[in-house]
Amino acid sequence: MKRKVTKAIFPVAGLGTRFLPATKSVPKEIMTLVDRPLIQYAIDEARAAGIKEFIFVTSRGKSALEDYFDDAPVLEQELRRKGKTDLLETLKATTMDSGQIAYVRQHKARGLGHAVWCARRLVHNEPFAVILPDDVIAADTPCLQQMVEAYAETGGNMVAAMEVPAEKTSSYGILDPVGDAMGPSVPIKGMVEKPEAGSAPSNLAVIGRYILSPQVMKHLNAVKSGAGGEIQLTDAIAREIEDGNGVHGFRFQGQRYDCGSKSGFLQATVAFGLARPDLRDELRDFLSDLSSVGYAAQ
Ligand code: G1P
Repeated sequence: MKRKVTKAIFPVAGLGTRFLPATKSVPKEIMTLVDRPLIQYAIDEARAAGIKEFIFVTSRGKSALEDYFDDAPVLEQELRRKGKTDLLETLKATTMDSGQIAYVRQHKARGLGHAVWCARRLVHNEPFAVILPDDVIAADTPCLQQMVEAYAETGGNMVAAMEVPAEKTSSYGILDPVGDAMGPSVPIKGMVEKPEAGSAPSNLAVIGRYILSPQVMKHLNAVKSGAGGEIQLTDAIAREIEDGNGVHGFRFQGQRYDCGSKSGFLQATVAFGLARPDLRDELRDFLSDLSSVGYAAQ
């Protein structure tokens, strides 16, 4: 059964320990690439794909996220008074209509699958998207929109996918494709979360965009702890395959930045800075003569 995808789950409950001490008081999803927080890229992508309801799975210490998507009357008044219409326009993308955004708490850090399951009552019996804000994907057509278009053909379940080097497969969910399909939509006969070195069924890794059938919520009810002792979303999607329901990997067009790692975050910062007309020239000059860097903080 194919249906319009209008709901997206954003799992944002993680502690962000890789970015301590910054994440001691700032949710990692609020960390900025140039001047927009990671979560803003995720929301913009969801909106472009036609998502109308945004479900955040949060945890203690994430209230800055709720404030971020709220109106800011004092700030807006001040900007209006000063005639800063461009900044007022920028702020528009950060507000949500009442009722468009919902927050659900994940009380215990039990893994991505558990986080998604926490949103089950808001998803009801509809297909839903999941976006992991750590994976920032720059593309001409936003990644989720590409997927929604492909999903209109396939139905079932769809996960974003990309080839990774063999030595990296143990960091991802890895797909077991049927045959050697080379097109964008790849039918899948199995998937495994973070396989041990040497045991990966392919190099095709899951990237943090999903369109899932509501059946996956039922599977999440039943799956036991998997890789890393956590409830894994990958394991619940694999059950769809066992039940004979379709799962496709989708090779998206675009570049993915792993903003869950410091190196990926820095790469995204440089790339996005170079893409900005107001910053490009100065940044390029700086990068082209790094011998001028005398001191930098450790
Ligand atoms: C999660 C998923 C994994 C996927 C990855 C993509 O892992 O569990 O299947 O490949 O996101 O970024 P995490 O990076 O949270 O360990």
